[in-house]
Amino acid sequence: MAKRVASCFLGVFLSIAAAAPPPAVYIFGDSTLDVGTNSFIPGCLARADFYFNGIDFHRSEPTGRFSNGLNTADQIAILLGLKKSPPPFLYLLNDPSTFQRNILQGANFASGGSGILNSTGQAKKVISLEDQIKQFSTVRSNITNMTCSDKATDTILSKAFFLISIGSNDIFEYLLNPAPPMSVPEFNATLISTYEYHIKTLYELGARMFGILTVPPIGCTPFARAVFTGNNSCFEPAQEFAQDFSLNMAILLDNFSSQVQDIKYSLANTFLTTSFLMGDMLAFGFKNIAAACCGNGTYGCNQSTSFCSNRDEYLFWDQFHPTQRASELAALTVFGASEPLVAPMNFSQLLGVNM
Ligand SMILES: *[C@@H]1O[C@H](CO)[C@@H](O)[C@H](O)[C@H]1NC(C)=O
Ligand SMILES: *[C@@H]1O[C@H](CO)[C@@H](O)[C@H](O)[C@H]1NC(C)=O
Ligand SMILES: *[C@@H]1O[C@H](CO)[C@@H](O)[C@H](O)[C@H]1NC(C)=O
Ligand SMILES: *[C@@H]1O[C@H](CO)[C@@H](O)[C@H](O)[C@H]1NC(C)=O
Ligand SMILES: *[C@@H]1O[C@H](CO)[C@@H](O)[C@H](O)[C@H]1NC(C)=O
Ligand SMILES: *[C@@H]1O[C@H](CO)[C@@H](O)[C@H](O)[C@H]1NC(C)=O
Ligand SMILES: *[C@@H]1O[C@H](CO)[C@@H](O)[C@H](O)[C@H]1NC(C)=O
Ligand SMILES: *[C@@H]1O[C@H](CO)[C@@H](O)[C@H](O)[C@H]1NC(C)=O
Ligand SMILES: *[C@@H]1O[C@H](CO)[C@@H](O)[C@H](O)[C@H]1NC(C)=O
Repeated sequence: MAKRVASCFLGVFLSIAAAAPPPAVYIFGDSTLDVGTNSFIPGCLARADFYFNGIDFHRSEPTGRFSNGLNTADQIAILLGLKKSPPPFLYLLNDPSTFQRNILQGANFASGGSGILNSTGQAKKVISLEDQIKQFSTVRSNITNMTCSDKATDTILSKAFFLISIGSNDIFEYLLNPAPPMSVPEFNATLISTYEYHIKTLYELGARMFGILTVPPIGCTPFARAVFTGNNSCFEPAQEFAQDFSLNMAILLDNFSSQVQDIKYSLANTFLTTSFLMGDMLAFGFKNIAAACCGNGTYGCNQSTSFCSNRDEYLFWDQFHPTQRASELAALTVFGASEPLVAPMNFSQLLGVNM
């Protein structure tokens, strides 16, 4: 009993401590932010825990990141003052003795191959955004178990940063499906209304500060150039979807934030930012913005494929994912740029960091 009271008293300190930077970071989404979640899912078919992934990571270690090194979750965490992304939630679960302390600093729920819609990525056994948010709701209850009060938990979470990047896989699966179950406008609308539902759920669970990355120019990935067009041009229907998605997200968040007055957010238009990098590639040190460094457009990266030596000069690491260098530039943009690349404020303003 005495122990319980002592640990509940701790809640007061926890909610004060949560104000000091860097904030706790909770990360949701797909392979752009996955730092190893999928390596912990039995039977998962969307994995990156093998070489040459991670070739530029500390000790050239494959960590489950779909990258040659650090990914966008890490690069954003670094600009917040952390060493890299918080570990996967599924990893933290493995050690009950440190779990409670760790989740106060954040957790990464992102799962490569997942989508806004439950059905996306299901065949590969990945964790949908809906289920990632369910995992977060247990984290909330674990925090409340420490603070003994929903109010103290609310205070702690109101200072945490919620980073989300998702949507590409929904669009890819829709375009790859020869008989899509919905018309284009229906699909378009479903994607946005489902995303809105997820953001509302996070809000109800205590999230107040959001950083959201839209869908990048997925029609220009090595995969789309090889598989959809086959002549190395960008695939326009995928580009249109991605571009519309960014516009629709801006409307959604504008609308949502006018209904609930106590959220702060920053929407990074990844479509525009990446298009900007592609349009002026030499200025950013890129020599190749169309090909995969490892593997090619049709085949994924693994130890029996070839890979480029000048990784920092490639935008794409593999058929879908940016290199460590491209992720770094994306992170610098969301922290330091202005509208229309990031709106209504940049991540530095949102999070009160000086760059
Ligand atoms: C998505 O899946 C979860 C189970 O994981 C279920 O509870 C939920 O109702 C589903 N949502 C939709 C929109 O189908
Ligand atoms: C609350 O935390 C204790 C450890 O501090 C743990 O044993 C217990 O299972 C937790 N209960 C819930 C409902 O999370
Ligand atoms: C976290 O919360 C869940 C759901 O309430 C519970 O099952 C689990 O035991 C908790 N874990 C810890 C370490 O408290
Ligand atoms: C490439 O193929 C697409 C259709 O697959 C076509 O619309 C486009 O004009 C082609 N581009 C070139 C440069 O051939
Ligand atoms: C998606 O919906 C928006 C309006 O909500 C529309 O402007 C856009 O053209 C649609 N995109 C596609 C690919 O149909
Ligand atoms: C704004 O949100 C409300 C309530 O969810 C909805 O009825 C309305 O259609 C939305 N407006 C736009 C422009 O999305
Ligand atoms: C892509 O890589 C595979 C496997 O290494 C190879 O068989 C194929 O020819 C390559 N495709 C192109 C277009 O280079
Ligand atoms: C590696 O990729 C090549 C080309 O895509 C494929 O043929 C081979 O089976 C893969 N090897 C492993 C170990 O996955
Ligand atoms: C974005 O962030 C930087 C600090 O990193 C700040 O100086 C700048 O004013 C911000 N840009 C805009 C347009 O608000």
